[in-house]
Amino acid sequence: MRVEAFAPNPGDLAALQAAPDGTVPGWDGVGTVIEGAANGSGPKKGERAVFLGMDGGWAQQRRVSTAMVAAADHDFSWDHLASLPVPATSALRALRRLGSVLGKRVLVVGAGSAVGVAAVQLAARSGAHVVAVARNERLHERLRSLGARETHVTVESVGGPVHNAIDMVGGKGLVTAYGLLGPGGTVIALGHAAGEPEHFPFGAFVADPSTADRSITSFFLGSEPDLDAELEYLGSRADLDLGPTETKPWTELARWIESGAPREQGRVVFRVEHRR
Ligand SMILES: NC(=O)c1ccc[n+]([C@@H]2O[C@H](COP(=O)([O-])OP(=O)(O)OC[C@H]3O[C@@H](n4cnc5c(N)ncnc54)[C@H](OP(=O)(O)O)[C@@H]3O)[C@@H](O)[C@H]2O)c1
Repeated sequence: MRVEAFAPNPGDLAALQAAPDGTVPGWDGVGTVIEGAANGSGPKKGERAVFLGMDGGWAQQRRVSTAMVAAADHDFSWDHLASLPVPATSALRALRRLGSVLGKRVLVVGAGSAVGVAAVQLAARSGAHVVAVARNERLHERLRSLGARETHVTVESVGGPVHNAIDMVGGKGLVTAYGLLGPGGTVIALGHAAGEPEHFPFGAFVADPSTADRSITSFFLGSEPDLDAELEYLGSRADLDLGPTETKPWTELARWIESGAPREQGRVVFRVEHRR
């Protein structure tokens, strides 16, 4: 791939701390295929593509597995496409793990995060009644316009039961979200942005007819197989709104990280420069 743009994720930034010298960091991005896979699978030479991979993304060129790349729509800008791979693939994989959510009440905790905003839209498109929790109330109108049927500042004000939940925040919100599940419900604990521990009260796992078969599960995107199916959907239907992007040349990346990776809403996208 000739890399055109990437948008650092919280996971990218956290991984930097333990990365040995010489590492080329960066999980995801967008670019153009220089050379397709030898077996003919995946996007072809000259196509735009969104990609994932555990490292090597913050570079002018990178190699990607065909299990983690898909052709992208030409109608969307590099900046928009760069903000999609990790957040939107995580949200879509979470929803696919939940199975059909048609007609179900699905709670999204941390709905203002990039993953959360994607999850709200994808769950609403899948026919769910989406209950969005975002601590920043100024985001609620936007979340409703993206498909949320209810918005809350904290999980505590959500009335139960919910069929499923996707949680990006962790801490006591995860404990409360689990407690809102009806029988057979699952919380996917995807993120832990609050950085707080979870303490479940006695009785949380005692089952009766109204609480039987509830579960909490998690996954790590980098260990998930065959993400090309999710990327293909996202690349060809790239009309997800992940919020405003701020664009910078990649020569500013180190300075941006050293100053604490500041951003308002949405993602900061770094455009890769190529010598002609
Ligand atoms: N398991 C996986 O494979 C996987 C994949 C992707 C992401 N993740 C994780 O999912 C989480 C979200 O990722 P992202 O890229 O969407 O992050 P993001 O866009 O940076 O957003 C982080 C969100 O967390 C919220 N937040 C931070 N501290 C909080 C607190 N104490 N209480 C409530 N909300 C809090 C922020 O709210 P404000 O905007 O109000 O500050 C913001 O909405 C991260 O923890 C990330 O590491 C996991």
